[in-house]
Amino acid sequence: MKDSHFRKLIPLIILMIFAGCNPDGNDKIITGRGIVTSSGMVVSAHPEASLIGVGVLKKGGNAIDAAVATQFALAVCYPAAGNIGGGGLAVIRMADGTADALDFREKAPGKASRDMYLDENGDPVEGLSTDTGMASGVPGSVAGAIEMHRKYGSIGFEEVIQPAIDLARKGFPLTEDQARSLNAMRKVFLERNDNPVAFTLNNEWHEGDILIQPELASTLELIRDKGTGGFYKGEVAEMIVRQMESSGGLVSLSDLENYSAVWRTPVIAPFDKYTIISMPPPSSGGIALIQLLGMISDYPVSDWGFHSDSAVHLMVEAERRVYADRSEYLGDPDFVDIPVNKLIDRDYLKYRMRDFDPGHSTDSKDIGAGDINYESEETTHFSVVDGDGNAVSVTTTLNGGYGNSIVVGGAGFLMNNEMDDFSVKPGVPNIYGLVGGDANAIEPGKRMLSSMTPTIVERNDSLFMVVGSPGGSTIITSVFQTILNVTDFSMDMQQAVDAGRFHHQWLPDYISYEKGALDSLLIRSLISRGHTLRQRSSIGRVDAIRVLADGRLEAGADSRGDDTAAGY
Ligand code: DON
Repeated sequence: MKDSHFRKLIPLIILMIFAGCNPDGNDKIITGRGIVTSSGMVVSAHPEASLIGVGVLKKGGNAIDAAVATQFALAVCYPAAGNIGGGGLAVIRMADGTADALDFREKAPGKASRDMYLDENGDPVEGLSTDTGMASGVPGSVAGAIEMHRKYGSIGFEEVIQPAIDLARKGFPLTEDQARSLNAMRKVFLERNDNPVAFTLNNEWHEGDILIQPELASTLELIRDKGTGGFYKGEVAEMIVRQMESSGGLVSLSDLENYSAVWRTPVIAPFDKYTIISMPPPSSGGIALIQLLGMISDYPVSDWGFHSDSAVHLMVEAERRVYADRSEYLGDPDFVDIPVNKLIDRDYLKYRMRDFDPGHSTDSKDIGAGDINYESEETTHFSVVDGDGNAVSVTTTLNGGYGNSIVVGGAGFLMNNEMDDFSVKPGVPNIYGLVGGDANAIEPGKRMLSSMTPTIVERNDSLFMVVGSPGGSTIITSVFQTILNVTDFSMDMQQAVDAGRFHHQWLPDYISYEKGALDSLLIRSLISRGHTLRQRSSIGRVDAIRVLADGRLEAGADSRGDDTAAGY
């Protein structure tokens, strides 16, 4: 070899030495929105979490290892929704086509009861199911992450959790949105916590300030060293119970000890040349998504076009019917019989649309309207695909932003206010304006109905899309619209995620839409069909991955937030 040639190779050789001579070592991790990579990708609500997830992929972990790493990282760097004090749902599709669903939803404490949030007149006490210790269900996220890793992970648990521990101990720079959000929450944190909490250490946060969470780091270390026993038993469990006792909560040591995540059979149904694999109850998401796609599939939606009046009218009318079914039939399958097959049966869906009038809106029965203009988007979804084609779709939440804003003293993590997802009283709307009845009434040990819709889509039996969103009741319609944007409206993944959204949930009976999402002609046409419309804050925050025809991965990271894809 000529000397000059050798000299040109020197930087490459040095790089290979630094990369441990790993043939993949030179695949640079790239981050951003709409990126396309060939070997693996994580799309999440925070750049630090996406980078940690991809780091685990590059170290040889599979999509499940990366998902667990991302989930713990989000508990550190995205405290508004990432969590260990909340719960979540995951849909997995392994490269061999095996599909699975993990339910790590919170459970009602053993001491919970049907009317626990009602006063002596039988009326809901404002704030009790959202702003107090009593709002917390038994957390499921730690059991979920450990179970997911136990069944499908390929590298050691310590390797997947350690990056989150380091992130908590060393800290990370807040984004502008996070600084603003923590400042806005300061008063609430101070009111609801006697112990000092990391979120209030600065009087005022600025973009780039480093948030350090040493107590959370220690809790994560206990989980690393003792597994579920580091959280559901021993000192952390005792700290949770102490915190519950001092803030009116009901979660007990035996509730914690008895908690386990449950594997469920995903709901699976065809849609055109696609197959939808999504979350079964206790989420309403999978059934509702399949119902929505089924109800519109006999109409030429694609010819009508994106945000055409006919398409929007049809989608809204389908949504109205689907959310009415949600309210009546859905709850925790361990407590209520749910006619899943009937609800997603094609004939039933045709029957349900028999009174669809292309020229006019149908009336929702007016049985009490809630406020769905709740602004928080603080659940979080992330999507992961590895180089072998294993895929994970996870949505996790504390329910409201920062849950009930109560940090477990000494343990450094926020508790959820997920109990509000139960039907506190038949017909009374929750914070997302959703109403429910017996199927979703509170019972000890029961899981509250969710709208989280972690979903995986196949095309011709191969992996095609991993998708999901936060947004309370609007999760289902956000996922629905994102899928259609790709399948029927020819958008790429980033366009599909960024496109404007609208939402109808039966009650309250109006279409809500994001600013700028629907043009004035369309709005006028919908009004002439009898619809009422209201503009609101942003709807959903979708993080998705699409597999392109050549096998490369294309990211959709929602520009409504700090959401970022990382891949290589
Ligand atoms: O499980 C559910 O349906 C809700 N707890 C999700 C909450 C949520 O998405 C918050 N973000 N807006």
